[in-house]
Amino acid sequence: MKVRLAKESDLKVVVDIHLKRFNDFFLTSLGKFFLIQFYKGFLKEPGILLIIEDNFKVVGFAAGSFSNNGFFKKLLVNNLIGFAKAGIIVALSNPSALIRIGSNANKASREDLEFSELLSICTLPNKKGYGKILLKAFENYVFSKSKLPISLTTDFCNNEKTVTFYKDCGYSIYKVFDSYKDRKMYRFLKNND
Ligand SMILES: CC(C)(COP(=O)(O)OP(=O)(O)OC[C@H]1O[C@@H](n2cnc3c(N)ncnc32)[C@H](O)[C@@H]1OP(=O)(O)O)[C@@H](O)C(=O)NCCC(=O)NCCS
Repeated sequence: MKVRLAKESDLKVVVDIHLKRFNDFFLTSLGKFFLIQFYKGFLKEPGILLIIEDNFKVVGFAAGSFSNNGFFKKLLVNNLIGFAKAGIIVALSNPSALIRIGSNANKASREDLEFSELLSICTLPNKKGYGKILLKAFENYVFSKSKLPISLTTDFCNNEKTVTFYKDCGYSIYKVFDSYKDRKMYRFLKNND
């Protein structure tokens, strides 16, 4: 098994795994083209996109940032043309989604704490510990370059397996908050120590 930084040629398989594993998520509803542009933004710093391979096959990925400070603007700048094209498609097919994207980005920019962030992690179903290996590699990569804690958010309701996964990996609850349309979420934190 190997974890490495993703390349542009990995984006299609990253998005295929995202579509398989995040079926009810908002970002998924924005479609394959949007997701390719979204993850492409993570290929440049302050974005981070790691993939895990088993037998030379990509079986999962982790996307995040070195700092939440203005990150969504930086993500946009990292792939301005791609996001512009994706934005036009979303505006024509699902205009209300643009309001939600704006609301989420606005909330993210109002966080009171600076942290590195795990924004998306996903593996193919396995009994080999892909998720834990990938998350550890993500932490090692982030902590080798930054002193900030790592944060992540996850659903509060009907999400015991993922919550247990993060707790087992050493994350503690920092707060519970309401996201878009009162969706209750945890924010977890892990310090660099
Ligand atoms: C959350 C997620 C990333 C966790 O990754 P994962 O690969 O499932 O997690 P693990 O590293 O614990 O490994 C998976 C299994 O391998 C098992 N395992 C770990 N090490 C092992 C080993 N050495 N030998 C055999 N089995 C092992 C684990 O016990 C676990 O089994 P379980 O699923 O029955 O509990 C993954 O489930 C996922 O992609 N979920 C969908 C997307 C999602 O919700 N992401 C999080 C959003 S906040």
